[in-house]
Amino acid sequence: MSATDRERWDARHAAVGAGTPMPPDGLRGRLGLLPGGSGPADRSGLSAGGRALDVACGRGAVAVWLAHQGFAVDAVDVSGAGLASARALAAAEGVRRVRFLEADLDAGLPVAGPYDLVVCQRYRDPALYPALAAALAPGGLLVLTVLSEVGDEGGRFRAVPGELVRAFPQLETVDHREGDGEATLLARRT
Ligand SMILES: C[S@@+](CC[C@H](N)C(=O)[O-])C[C@H]1O[C@@H](n2cnc3c(N)ncnc32)[C@H](O)[C@@H]1O
Repeated sequence: MSATDRERWDARHAAVGAGTPMPPDGLRGRLGLLPGGSGPADRSGLSAGGRALDVACGRGAVAVWLAHQGFAVDAVDVSGAGLASARALAAAEGVRRVRFLEADLDAGLPVAGPYDLVVCQRYRDPALYPALAAALAPGGLLVLTVLSEVGDEGGRFRAVPGELVRAFPQLETVDHREGDGEATLLARRT
């Protein structure tokens, strides 16, 4: 990523400020799909657990929510400003089991896994798809949401129709939705 693009992301994140913990968009109404584990029961009553990765985590809303669910979370983003907000949110929420990593995903995933849950939302890089699948532990769940051409105009940042299901033949598709300019794939490593 160019320095200019990184500064643009920093400015966007700095302008908005801290957020609140949020489940991944792709899991709304489907929280029962979260991998179970030995993590502590959280304040929502769920008892998920294991290791989770949030790719392009932004200001950390999803990463902190996952930590609340009992996951030990690694969260990666290129934006120092985004990560500063994310760390502030984690501190305000009393969350410790989250590790924020500053890295440019253009160079690939800076972590190897295995993870029980890999989340990537509103960041699309087809070159990264194989690494996302490879980072999953057996039984692990991928939750991927990207901008799509379906129901919107085309553009180089948007997934073409069917892109996500075609990109992960090694995973079992749990759910795939496209429409209104967004595509979501939930897929499990068997
Ligand atoms: C639209 S935001 C999505 C943030 C978060 N996933 C969410 O759903 O709120 C895209 C994120 O990708 C990050 N990003 C963009 N290009 C990146 C790169 N090459 N490496 C790492 N992070 C990148 C930006 O800093 C930004 O936080």
